[in-house]
Amino acid sequence: MPMNPNGRHILAAALLLAAAAAGADEAPLTTQIVDALNKIYGSHPGFRANHAKGVVVEGSFKASPQAAKLSRAALFNGSTIPVTVRFSDSGGLPDVADGSAGANPHGMAIKFHLPDGSDTDMVINSLKFFPVASGEEFRDLLVAIGESGPDAARPTAVERFKAGHPAVDKAFATVGTPDSFADEEYYGVDAFILVDKAGTRQAVRYQMVPQKLVHLSPAVAAKKPADFLVDDLPQRIGKKPAVFHLKAQLALPGDQTKDPSQPWPDGRKLVDLGVLTLDKPVADSLEAQKKLLFMPTQLTDGIELSDDQLPVVRAGAYAVSFSRRSK
Ligand code: HEM
Repeated sequence: MPMNPNGRHILAAALLLAAAAAGADEAPLTTQIVDALNKIYGSHPGFRANHAKGVVVEGSFKASPQAAKLSRAALFNGSTIPVTVRFSDSGGLPDVADGSAGANPHGMAIKFHLPDGSDTDMVINSLKFFPVASGEEFRDLLVAIGESGPDAARPTAVERFKAGHPAVDKAFATVGTPDSFADEEYYGVDAFILVDKAGTRQAVRYQMVPQKLVHLSPAVAAKKPADFLVDDLPQRIGKKPAVFHLKAQLALPGDQTKDPSQPWPDGRKLVDLGVLTLDKPVADSLEAQKKLLFMPTQLTDGIELSDDQLPVVRAGAYAVSFSRRSK
């Protein structure tokens, strides 16, 4: 599905913002991040700098009555909203084995096609929280990984980085390989603000919850065929829809919203926002994914950014990656 005009504005704005934020003699942070990703994985024309391997499917979303109470967004008014969804493996290798550790965390990117012709996006993954607090730290982690090849002296740059950032190993300990993209749980990680009809604001983090969660042991995952996840999903939903519940974890007053590496306590209330049903494989997924750009900042009235700056940095980096892969 081609990007709508709304998407083009967001792409141009993200690139301009990135250029304006950079010093005169230094590449913007977002360019530095994509350069660091390209250094780790190599450049693969036509593919994303991160989450290069994926599969596109379609379906619909129907919000629950509780969702309309939390947000006035058209997304949550209870009508049936068509969706385009791309599931992915992590990393910039288009041929990564789906069961390898490098394919974790798996991603889920959703474009909700609203009745007025605009889209609102959600870009989420299977990490329960992010390994670092900011875009700058993410760049530093990627640069450290790029400098820590098999011949690097110990402690390597990445070992030194992790020693000062304990959330990195903790975050990666929360992921595993699912037996299907449909049997995985995906987390929004970043905090967003839902705004209701009266203007009341509630900070939330999204969770996309499957009907069943099935993780494989690393030994079983390593023996799976390289494309088992991307091959499974279209076949599976051709026979029976994959169903998820979109949930909002509600912050309590005083919960911080700006640091995506600090999860809120498990006991925070979860509200069921509605049901996502995926029932249509896409005929040429490889071609379809080239034209798609999912942006964590592409929001609609009733959903806003919080003081978490990561989605803004992410949108800038996604725009840089999109402009490189569209050449
Ligand atoms: C500073 C932090 C981050 C940076 C710099 C970053 C960078 C990137 C880049 C460059 C891409 C390729 C985009 C494209 O070509 O369309 C990408 C894709 C993706 N990222 Fe991130 N990312 C960050 C954080 C996150 C977080 C927190 C999540 C989820 C909670 C996430 C989930 C995804 C997913 C699911 C995709 C694939 C989107 C698709 O299917 O088109 N990323 N990321």
